[in-house]
Amino acid sequence: MLVINNVTVKGKQVNILIEGDRVVSVGKRTRAAKGDVIIDGTSLTALPGFIDMHVHLREPGFEYKEDITSGTRAAVRGGFTAVACMPNTKPVTDNPYIVKYILMRAKEADNCRVYPVAAITQGEKGQQLTEMKKLKDAGAAAFSDDGVPVSDSRMMRNALLYASTFNLPVIEHCEDKSLVDGGVVNEGKNANLLGLPGISRASEDAEIARNIVLAEVYGVPIHLAHVSTRGGMQLIREAKARGVKVTCETCPHYMALTDDEILGFNAMAKVNPPLREEEDRQAVIAAIVDGTADCIVTDHAPHSKEDKDNGMYDSPNGISGLETSYAVAYTTLVRGGYIGQEQLCRLMTYNPAKILGVECGRIEKGGLADITLVDNSAEWTVDPEQFASKGKNTPFAGKKYFGRVEYTIVGGRVRYARKEEI
Ligand code: DOR
Ligand code: ZN
Repeated sequence: MLVINNVTVKGKQVNILIEGDRVVSVGKRTRAAKGDVIIDGTSLTALPGFIDMHVHLREPGFEYKEDITSGTRAAVRGGFTAVACMPNTKPVTDNPYIVKYILMRAKEADNCRVYPVAAITQGEKGQQLTEMKKLKDAGAAAFSDDGVPVSDSRMMRNALLYASTFNLPVIEHCEDKSLVDGGVVNEGKNANLLGLPGISRASEDAEIARNIVLAEVYGVPIHLAHVSTRGGMQLIREAKARGVKVTCETCPHYMALTDDEILGFNAMAKVNPPLREEEDRQAVIAAIVDGTADCIVTDHAPHSKEDKDNGMYDSPNGISGLETSYAVAYTTLVRGGYIGQEQLCRLMTYNPAKILGVECGRIEKGGLADITLVDNSAEWTVDPEQFASKGKNTPFAGKKYFGRVEYTIVGGRVRYARKEEI
């Protein structure tokens, strides 16, 4: 048995007993038998293990940026018991062999659960649909061409109709490439100040609108990736009110940062969609508060130091986000007074599980023992050199946050213990 003593669950001090991959009791019961593993939960809070439905693990093909071992290690360090990994690998995850390869490597790594997202189109080229049925049978959990949009609306319509017959979600990266028009950061005063070409909000909003129209007209679900704009959130809010089956996610960087981070030509803050302005940041928080935003994901996009050392034009987009996500979200949203801890669980666990159609941790009798223990009173400074991820690219370096992950338990097994690491 795994026993967690004196831990806080929904404001109450309890003991949690775990046997195999199940919670057997939550309450006053104690146990100390030979062979039990005992965790002292004093001053810790137990939460259902976080699920990040949007990460880039880079394997196969870009192992110098990240691989499945390092990426899932970063995941458990960040309190994640499951991640869904995007298909912009090399080759693209557009056939059953790569899906199976990812699952095999994840099993070997034995850190957290991994749900492979397969491509919508062959090679993410937008020309031809993948064989979705075969991909599903191989273990794909969702479809996306993330990194690029499915620009052709007819292709997207077909993808939505086809995927809906297997009940798997389609996740769309919303970006009208023609409106990006060479932009590298958000279009606005900071882009002007630095003399950099801007990316219009219209690029994101126009694609969000197109996708809502398809979901509405054809009555099929769609999940919109990493929403960053005030206009996008408003479109989604209105669509949901009309009953459109649209869900969406946003990221810690859109709720905590603005494009002020790019001042000084800081490529660590270069991400797609770009960090926007204060009004957008406020709108992202408002969307989280009123349920327009369903999930918080990291869009964990590790890149090497050399890749990111190429200036604002040529550096790739992306932030290594797994190891800062909980702290940034907890500090910004819960300590910031916008939402309670329970709503954060919906955003980081229950809603992503529902959208992916997978079981998640539940701290109750019979629940899956995917559990994260956090110390919400611990304040710490982000130091990317401590990351397990190969990607040290973060605009959060040097910033201070509350909420430190102490233990990550996956299927009843401790897969990360901070104390043992140091
Ligand atoms: O910033 C980003 N990085 N956005 C994306 O959509 C892709 C990702 C990546 O793969 O690096
Ligand atoms: Zn994307």
